[in-house]
Amino acid sequence: MMSKVIKMETVRSLNQIRKKSLEFKENFQTIAFVPTMGNLHDGHLSLVKLAKKCGDPVVVSIFVNKLQFGPNEDFEKYPRTLYSDIEKLEKEGIYILFAPKEKDLYPVEQEFRINPPKDISNILEGEFRDGYFIGVTTVVLKLFLCVQPKVAIFGKKDYQQLMILKNMTQQFAMPTKIIHAETFRASDGLALSSRNIYLSTRERSIAPMLFKELNNAKILFKKESDSIKEIEKIAFRKLIDFGWEPDYFSFRRQNDLQIPNSYDVINKTPLVILAAAKLGTTRLIDNLEI
Ligand code: PAF
Repeated sequence: MMSKVIKMETVRSLNQIRKKSLEFKENFQTIAFVPTMGNLHDGHLSLVKLAKKCGDPVVVSIFVNKLQFGPNEDFEKYPRTLYSDIEKLEKEGIYILFAPKEKDLYPVEQEFRINPPKDISNILEGEFRDGYFIGVTTVVLKLFLCVQPKVAIFGKKDYQQLMILKNMTQQFAMPTKIIHAETFRASDGLALSSRNIYLSTRERSIAPMLFKELNNAKILFKKESDSIKEIEKIAFRKLIDFGWEPDYFSFRRQNDLQIPNSYDVINKTPLVILAAAKLGTTRLIDNLEI
């Protein structure tokens, strides 16, 4: 049987999305929100599917947020594929897309910005992408103020982003609950990402190695939990040998992303291994919980 495709409404204006949100609230509906930068793939659609279990309506946003791109990053060439994104969302039965124009979300220079605590935002991704989490948290706050969701879904692939946004909503006592979704992977283990389309055929065949190395590191840690530094070095070296340019490959505590100490190892504090590395010009990130 053919599934029914619903026509989706694309809302561009901030006033319009606020009006819609108010109507949903007056009808006692729970807005579940999936913020994205578009170029939707199955990873995004898995967030959408989870959102459908958390509320109705599901509002998806598409906005390529220049605040989170550094001067040498790919803001200009970031894939913008609105029409195919709309088709995918309609197939999922989504009926509200919020796709503000840049001049509407940032009508003047965004001088008021969120400044996340440095101990969680200047490490890992923040160390290599200056101001990245200022840009992410600022746009997410702004999108939340427009959409006013009860719940919002973020993927574990962006582990640090997820953690920072959870902290932000808690500390500001925001009425939005952050829900996490597991990382969606291709059959060879590569975490899906909009930037995967930049990979050449050769690079795409090497790309699953990042997740394999995370798994190897987890296995080694299970055998020899006191040699974290050594395990990190081995993985780093191996990535370089296979043509990667790693930024970090690092064991961290799950709850605050700080470096685990011997107390954490002895007491089996939940850890996560996070990695970022460039393959050619494409920078990939991934992580694995222990
Ligand atoms: O994860 C992303 O796609 C972006 O960082 C987000 C949360 C949509 C903010 O621009």
